[in-house]
Amino acid sequence: MNAVDAVVVGLGFTGLPTALAAAGAGLRVVGVDSSADRVRALAAIRPGCGLGTVPDDAVRTALAGGRLVVRDAADGVPPAGVHVLCLPTPPNRFGGVDLGPLTSACRAVGEVLRVGDLVLVQSTCPPGTVAQSLAPVLERVSGLRAGWDFHLACAPVRIDPGNRAHGFASLPRVVGGHTRRCAQRATRFLSAMTGEVVEVATTCAAEVTKIFENTFRLVNISLVNELGALCRAYGVDVAEVLRAAGTKPFGFLRHQPSAGAGGDCVPVSARFFAGAARRRGMLSPLVDAALAVNEAQPAHTVHRLREALHSAGRSLRGARVLVLGVTYKPDTPNVRQSASVAVLEELRREAAVEYHDPYVPELTLSDGTSLTGKGSPDVRDADLVVLMTPHRAFRDLPDLGVPVYDCSSGDPRDLGPAFEAAA
Ligand SMILES: NC(=O)c1ccc[n+]([C@@H]2O[C@H](COP(=O)([O-])OP(=O)(O)OC[C@H]3O[C@@H](n4cnc5c(N)ncnc54)[C@H](O)[C@@H]3O)[C@@H](O)[C@H]2O)c1
Repeated sequence: MNAVDAVVVGLGFTGLPTALAAAGAGLRVVGVDSSADRVRALAAIRPGCGLGTVPDDAVRTALAGGRLVVRDAADGVPPAGVHVLCLPTPPNRFGGVDLGPLTSACRAVGEVLRVGDLVLVQSTCPPGTVAQSLAPVLERVSGLRAGWDFHLACAPVRIDPGNRAHGFASLPRVVGGHTRRCAQRATRFLSAMTGEVVEVATTCAAEVTKIFENTFRLVNISLVNELGALCRAYGVDVAEVLRAAGTKPFGFLRHQPSAGAGGDCVPVSARFFAGAARRRGMLSPLVDAALAVNEAQPAHTVHRLREALHSAGRSLRGARVLVLGVTYKPDTPNVRQSASVAVLEELRREAAVEYHDPYVPELTLSDGTSLTGKGSPDVRDADLVVLMTPHRAFRDLPDLGVPVYDCSSGDPRDLGPAFEAAA
């Protein structure tokens, strides 16, 4: 097969926008994924195949124009000038990372790697992963040397699914190379897709930048959740405090209280941060505390709901609860590390729980149990509704005729008339 301009391995939340951006920049792109179902969904433009990060129509246009071709990883990775790796980096059971998907993709790319090619790692990785774990695999399989025969660089993806103000192409990208020339080669490739590329000295510096950005968010999210608890204890409105603090024009960045931070990136990166510190014999007490606050937040949310129900003469125990929204943030189909799911699991300890989420027809819980979502916010069998992820579709909830508690801020708020009517 003739070499294409770029191969993107992994066509999920980050790989698909990358493949479309490269195709949009005029490159001939092949997207490869190990999930036959994912490849079929894209090839057939199944509704939702853009995963909320790109419009389904953009996939249709790229495929129809022949700029993007999708194929199953079982058919191999084709030769290309640029190999972009957008593979998952899930945390493993020991506080580190499962590098299985990335190393298997490196083996596949190593088979077809040629002198002068670029391998660009876009996954979020603990410090040192590209240089110490991935470069050796690529070198062993290809027989070529990173930085000499082929270019190797790391440019972790920045993306905020559903954020219309900051789309994939408008976000500056940070890149570090195995050598300076590797970084320059990666910068040329990335510049075709984004307005600004920021070079750092090494692949490790790029990895650390990414996990620091996300850890910064986790620490601030945990701080604002702790502020929420303090405000409750003093009878102060946290929203008012945040509005007031937000008038400070320097040194303050507003975060919103929530039932906890989720998703692939924010809590996972903080774990990579803490794990990386431990591997060097260091402590990271601030990050550890932020992680602990975040992990406790779903249980705190349910505890506060229990209290709110108790003061209204109701009980959670034995209640039939409908949870609205289970994704980690609104208007994305991603349920990974979702605090809404953690709340749902916590509720199941004492209540009969069903859920409705327009983005998630089926949900697998941490104990392996599968739940099928209700097709609509039908409350015929519910005593209580718990709003967790405020999707746009939930903005104008009709009077459901049962108590509705908005728990998305971690501090249950009785939504009023429906509750009054049912009480
Ligand atoms: N999702 C986000 O919002 C986000 C944001 C920034 C960074 N990241 C990071 O980007 C990386 C990728 O995350 P994602 O959200 O795109 O993951 P994803 O799970 O949405 O997509 C990964 C895709 O790779 C495929 N895959 C797995 N192993 C493969 C293999 N060996 N060969 C080919 N395909 C394979 C999977 O089938 C899947 O479709 C992770 O490191 C993540 O932390 C994610």
